[in-house]
Amino acid sequence: MLIVLGVTGGIAAYKATAIIRQLTEAGHSVQVVPTENALRFIGATTLEALSHHAVDSDLYSDVADVKHVQLGQNADLIIVAPATASFLARFASGIADDLLGNTLLATKAPVLVAPAMHTEMWQHASTVANVATLRSRGITVLDPAIGRLTGEDSGPGRLPEAEEIISAALELVRPQDLAGRTLLITAGGTQEAIDPVRFIGNKSSGKQGVAIARSAKARGARVVLIGANFGENMGDLSTEFDEFVSVVSAAQMQSAVEAHLESADVLVMAAAVSDFRVAEVSETKIKRSEVGNDITLKLIANPDILKSATVRVANENLKTITVGFAAETAGNQTALLRLAEIKLASKGCDILVANDVSEGKVFGADTNSVIVVSKAGASDFVEGTKDRVADRIIDFLATSLTR
Ligand code: CTP
Repeated sequence: MLIVLGVTGGIAAYKATAIIRQLTEAGHSVQVVPTENALRFIGATTLEALSHHAVDSDLYSDVADVKHVQLGQNADLIIVAPATASFLARFASGIADDLLGNTLLATKAPVLVAPAMHTEMWQHASTVANVATLRSRGITVLDPAIGRLTGEDSGPGRLPEAEEIISAALELVRPQDLAGRTLLITAGGTQEAIDPVRFIGNKSSGKQGVAIARSAKARGARVVLIGANFGENMGDLSTEFDEFVSVVSAAQMQSAVEAHLESADVLVMAAAVSDFRVAEVSETKIKRSEVGNDITLKLIANPDILKSATVRVANENLKTITVGFAAETAGNQTALLRLAEIKLASKGCDILVANDVSEGKVFGADTNSVIVVSKAGASDFVEGTKDRVADRIIDFLATSLTR
């Protein structure tokens, strides 16, 4: 995607570097358009080095290339960060006396503006009116973050974090290719009770499954999330998704999956399901003083939820595409691919996502690397944040749904 990043003349201009870096690392082409005043805060050389593109704020250089309209016409997305009060006033009035102003008037791409200024300036009636004007014209204006400002003062006026700006901006260009589809997604790790206070569990945090659910939701899907024992605060999932079912054990997860399977276009089994449960759960707490120095727990196999689902999809001729996950200690990509293909066949699912958990990687972390394979023979290797991996898995799925 070609993203134009406008940078205006405030102290937060240096933070544009983090935005450029993250966008280029995600594979986007970034063209930085600073205002003249922005270049008093950050050098063109820095912006060029990070964006790998020449940087020019001058409207009257290379006039023959008509760059003042070309950039705006070619951009897929425009971000202005930081945006000063003065920039907001000029943009709201349609003033186009520099390259950034021209680019903004010549574009049909979505525009996101991230203001940063002192609290008094943000709350001034002129700024309030300019922000309202821009928003009424379909420009997304982020609210500044609250915190320490340039001087001794603090309050609303800080530039939001680069991640926040980028995710809000990318939201504006997300395809709605899953509209009308229902995704049933399981996440987290099941717990199998031993007694009222003890259980057998696993290290899954649920982060990857929730990231997949969020990515699907952002692309217009109806999402039913079945969550087991999330490791940390994930926000209010019951308002975020169309349905959120909280479960503890594999048996509860299976009931929830079975109840929703028929209406789902896709089942994503990202949960780490305990393969075994305790045969006889003690109703009272097992007391150390009563068991002595060893204890034997008899474990019995849990039903394989994914396998039961793929069998049911085949038997009842359901439309549901089934996606399984596998945690493997493969060590290298070739071995991981092979293990993924074996698991795809043994589970009978349409798509399998395998991740390498050697040396304790993945669990609870924010990054992941996976191989996605499909029954149709397609495969893809994805590495990066769990959000990026989620987006690529959803891309893969969206392609399967359109076949
Ligand atoms: N799964 C399930 N029900 C189970 C166990 C696993 O639905 N009782 C699902 C998981 O949600 C995941 C896939 O099956 O999608 C994982 O398969 P599994 O055979 O458990 O693979 P691994 O976890 O990689 O473990 P192993 O290879 O040791 O069997």
